[in-house]
Amino acid sequence: MNIILLGPPGAGKGTQAARLEASRGMVQLSTGDMLRAAVAQGSPVGLQAKAVMEAGELVSDAIVSALIGERLDAIAGKGAIFDGYPRTRAQAEALDLLLTERGQKLEHVIELEVDEDALVERITGRFSCARCGAPYHDKYNLPKVDGTCDVCGSREFKRRPDDNEETVRTRLAEYRAKTAPILPYYEERGLVRRVDGMAPVEEVAAAVDAILDGAA
Ligand code: AP5
Repeated sequence: MNIILLGPPGAGKGTQAARLEASRGMVQLSTGDMLRAAVAQGSPVGLQAKAVMEAGELVSDAIVSALIGERLDAIAGKGAIFDGYPRTRAQAEALDLLLTERGQKLEHVIELEVDEDALVERITGRFSCARCGAPYHDKYNLPKVDGTCDVCGSREFKRRPDDNEETVRTRLAEYRAKTAPILPYYEERGLVRRVDGMAPVEEVAAAVDAILDGAA
């Protein structure tokens, strides 16, 4: 089963994708994670993407669709969770082509509906363990022991360079202008399902599960 998790920055796409990976053996394909890895490696793609990401703007369609194509080949038919991709109409069309070429299709486009004002607080408070990546939040999800990762015990944490208020506002504007308009492309095909992304994480997870299990 291939699904898209769609929603603005901070809607909870990564949170739900990680959970689906663990519970269903699906594979999270996050273009944001792929681009951050490229930036960290200093690869040619990373060098092109760094400033664009730090400004909160979108990286070129050709770059991200090429990254997705490579990863689809690598996961060899396991169910994909597209997280942060597609983000434009051109990417949506490219994804259709990539799936068709591999004899696959999309089952669901799950839109996480959220209140934008809450997103700024969610994102600007987010940080993660520098060693294992476990996610935390200044207000809602602090480590149990101050300054120590619950999962691996590391005392090093990091924040994303694009998680400041000014950049988050640009990311939200990009979402409204370029990504939200792709919903009708999927609505025409009856693929869109909506979930209340403001509910607690476990409730969002239960609603997503119900869709994937055909129970909602
Ligand atoms: P990307 O990495 O995709 O970031 P994003 O879409 O801005 O999404 P986030 O990762 O910020 O949020 P999320 O929805 O995954 O939320 P999360 O689960 O972390 O993209 C970064 C940049 O890369 C882009 O700006 C662009 O430059 C570039 N890029 C990436 N893909 C591209 C593409 N296809 N085309 C062009 N450019 C591209 O949750 C957020 C916080 O909220 C966490 O602290 C979490 O714990 C908390 N939380 C989650 N769910 C809940 C809940 N239900 N209740 C309370 N708190 C919650």
